[in-house]
Amino acid sequence: MAECDGNCNSCASKNTCSDTKKLLAQQDKKIRENMSKIKHKIVILSGKGGVGKSTVTVNLAAALNLMGKKVGVLDADIHGPNIPKMLGVENAQPMVGPAGIFPIVTKEGIRTMSISYLLPDDKTPVIWRGPKVSGAIRQFLADVAWGELDYLLIDTPPGTGDEQLTIMQSIPDIDGAIVVTTPEEVSILDVKKSITMARMLNILILGIIENMSGFVCPHCNKVVDVFGRGGGEKAAKEFGVEFLGRIPLDVKAREASDKGIPMVLLDCKASEEFKKIVERIVEKVEGKKE
Ligand SMILES: Nc1ncnc2c1ncn2[C@@H]1O[C@H](COP(=O)(O)OP(=O)(O)OP(=O)(O)O)[C@@H](O)[C@H]1O
Ligand SMILES: [Mg+2]
Repeated sequence: MAECDGNCNSCASKNTCSDTKKLLAQQDKKIRENMSKIKHKIVILSGKGGVGKSTVTVNLAAALNLMGKKVGVLDADIHGPNIPKMLGVENAQPMVGPAGIFPIVTKEGIRTMSISYLLPDDKTPVIWRGPKVSGAIRQFLADVAWGELDYLLIDTPPGTGDEQLTIMQSIPDIDGAIVVTTPEEVSILDVKKSITMARMLNILILGIIENMSGFVCPHCNKVVDVFGRGGGEKAAKEFGVEFLGRIPLDVKAREASDKGIPMVLLDCKASEEFKKIVERIVEKVEGKKE
């Protein structure tokens, strides 16, 4: 019998449809229970690929962890999972017990889950259609034993597809979305779509970050303009959302990331700028200052 997602009107077996609906309702309940133990849930979005979503996610996690917060990172990029490598735990394998799937814990204490931990090796691709991708994300929300956390950060692939829709629709009290862009027009164009999608689903936009905004000269350590700057701020004004700040393109940050070290643990220009952004996010999310 063909797989049914519970939403079809043409399925030959009404029982299969109603069973699926019951299972989905049970899973919704489990997601609500699991997520209720986490104080703040933030999704990281971008319209365009390669602009720095995963970089922002792991560095926000590392910075919050340095502040003494309990942090989890969910890698919702099913087809291109990068979080394990960026957190330096790419070869880890999760344990499964009666409480669910135990997240991988980094040496700094960040809890994380990714489809990547469940694959036999880093050459194996995930070749799944939308419903299976959504199913995997919902399972990570329902069945991972995240425990009590201050923050759960959710990294997504680029665009406005199944992954984003599943996250936005399945987590009941998500605090908001951080939208990452690079300064150029094509990225800004796609950012607008991410913002519109989030608004259609009643998700608050916490703000826009302009990444790769200028280049840190390795000789003089000054930020030089390469691809132009200011596109992110312009888009923020246009949509009436906060501009959280700029992160320059910094070779030290990229080298660290490749080694699984978040840039906020280094003394570099990108890290300096990023920490100011994190302070603002915490103020905003924890309601200390509006
Ligand atoms: N500010 C920065 N300075 C230097 N390198 C950076 C910076 N931001 C991101 N990078 C590097 O750029 C590459 C792409 O970043 P990242 O993987 O975070 O983008 P992404 O938006 O998550 O990509 P994808 O859409 O494929 O998921 C990575 O190698 C990362 O280390
Ligand atoms: Mg990514």
